[in-house]
Amino acid sequence: MNKKKEPLLYAQGLKKTYTTGTVKTEVLKGADVEIHAGEFVTIMGHSGSGKSTLMHILGFLDAPDEGKYVFEGKDTSKFDDDQLAEIRNKKIGFVFQSFNLLPRTSALDNVRLPMIYAGVPEKEQIIKATKALESVGLGHRLNNLSNELSGGEQQRVAVARALVNNPSLILADEPTGNLDSASTKEMMKVFDELNKKGHTLVIVTHEDNVASHAHRTIEIHDGVCKRS
Ligand SMILES: Nc1ncnc2c1ncn2[C@@H]1O[C@H](COP(=O)(O)OP(=O)(O)OP(=O)(O)O)[C@@H](O)[C@H]1O
Ligand SMILES: [Mg+2]
Repeated sequence: MNKKKEPLLYAQGLKKTYTTGTVKTEVLKGADVEIHAGEFVTIMGHSGSGKSTLMHILGFLDAPDEGKYVFEGKDTSKFDDDQLAEIRNKKIGFVFQSFNLLPRTSALDNVRLPMIYAGVPEKEQIIKATKALESVGLGHRLNNLSNELSGGEQQRVAVARALVNNPSLILADEPTGNLDSASTKEMMKVFDELNKKGHTLVIVTHEDNVASHAHRTIEIHDGVCKRS
């Protein structure tokens, strides 16, 4: 049988408008996206074009006003709060520009957090968190508090936290936006390795040297997505 492989996710006709007072901002005006398992995709577009808005929808942190979003073959518009919480915790790993680590908390404990929510037994939490931190080159920093780490190291802890539940999709919103060029290179090495191991990555960036690591770029312009 010559059946075309189903994408990991696809979205069609996504619309999102924000209203502040009397001002309406139409951010997404019918955006279509398709991501296949194992892909490494970047999303680009000018500031305010809707990149974070799209990422939040793809990561179930926000819902579209209109449009269809199918994740692993399931129409997500019917998901209730419990299903959404479960998918956010187990299927999606999110990395933010500002790291978002718990302060005065060790690297190991930061990475254990999603597993605590997922009800993973403590021994397994420690083994998996250690492995995740080793995989981002931080095996020697397990017990350092987050505020004792450099920006690049903090972001690698955030990546370890994002991948520790073995999610289907890692979404990163300008993960190198606060890093210097040496830490950016280090970070991109980590993303390249994760992708080689089979992780699906979607990364928002303004930087061409980050986008050059991806298989393809989705460009948001005028509220719609263009493939380039
Ligand atoms: N919660 C919100 N309430 C009102 N307006 C919002 C909200 N979130 C985003 N916006 C507006 O929607 C537009 C798109 O925002 P978004 O954060 O998606 O852009 P972006 O492409 O990620 O930009 P940047 O590159 O600066 O991060 C912007 O004009 C922003 O001001
Ligand atoms: Mg943004």
